[in-house]
Amino acid sequence: MSDIRHLISLNDLTDDELERIVWRGVSFGEASAPQSDVLRDRIIGIYFSKTSTRTRTAFTVAALRLGARVITYGPGDLQLNTGETIEDTAHVLAGMLDGLVMRTAGPTHEFRALAGHSMPVVNAMSAEEHPTQALADLTTLAARFGRITGLRVLYVGEGNNSAAALARALPRFRDVELEFRTPPGYGLDPDVLAEAELTAKRCGSTVRERSDLADLPDGLDVVYTTRWNTTGTSKADPDWRTTFAPFQVDDSLMARHPGAVFMHDLPAHRGEEVTAEVLDGPASIAFDQARHKLHSAMAVLEWCQRAVPS
Ligand code: CP
Repeated sequence: MSDIRHLISLNDLTDDELERIVWRGVSFGEASAPQSDVLRDRIIGIYFSKTSTRTRTAFTVAALRLGARVITYGPGDLQLNTGETIEDTAHVLAGMLDGLVMRTAGPTHEFRALAGHSMPVVNAMSAEEHPTQALADLTTLAARFGRITGLRVLYVGEGNNSAAALARALPRFRDVELEFRTPPGYGLDPDVLAEAELTAKRCGSTVRERSDLADLPDGLDVVYTTRWNTTGTSKADPDWRTTFAPFQVDDSLMARHPGAVFMHDLPAHRGEEVTAEVLDGPASIAFDQARHKLHSAMAVLEWCQRAVPS
């Protein structure tokens, strides 16, 4: 078996690795965190064929902060555009780079094709999963609450790739209650939900999904939403906004959960999935969450490069 470490899905991590990456991210985020040059003399490729503000910047800065040098490719740069296969691209890049961080709107199996070579590959968002977003989310929760175990989290909105990543990660922290409320017809992939329910059972957590906002659980720690149009996607139903409208996070929803913080993976559309009052209000930690993308990216790169200091 290859000993190259890829992060293509959160399923690539053991529970222990997941926990260690999260807490390493927390330590990178602490003001007193020591500088590190564990990636000195390594060259990391950053290939984004889709738009990104946070993830691309986070991984670029993370690589630089860890001492690596970085080469970036935008959507028009690689010969993938002119028909070169992903396998040939991987074969060539693996001979020159020490790692590749990549975002496309394609399926996760394209990332697996790249991962057949001696170069760690990080999925910075595929059609089905956004694993580094969940790692940033968990880093934010761990920094805020000092624990993830036992948290009660409500996710409101589409069962998109950020939701799938949360479903794969959160229940593994034991005694977590994770409730998805997704618009009818826009729920989690049933396979992802079934897998999350099994994981939850193994870890003493619960995962539930409903397609309405009635009978919300009490005592929530977190209300989480994402924007209604995930990067690179569109919806076939021209009337989809009518279906999504009741799932907006507003003051009335937050008032029912006075102890809860508000999270959003950003970018946000104020007035759609969340009101400006909530996103910019006192319960919101969405911009903290964005800041932690850098810290969790540092932890991910360190893990992939087997560069964790002893
Ligand atoms: N949340 C997130 O992935 O942001 P970007 O699309 O800006 O990277």
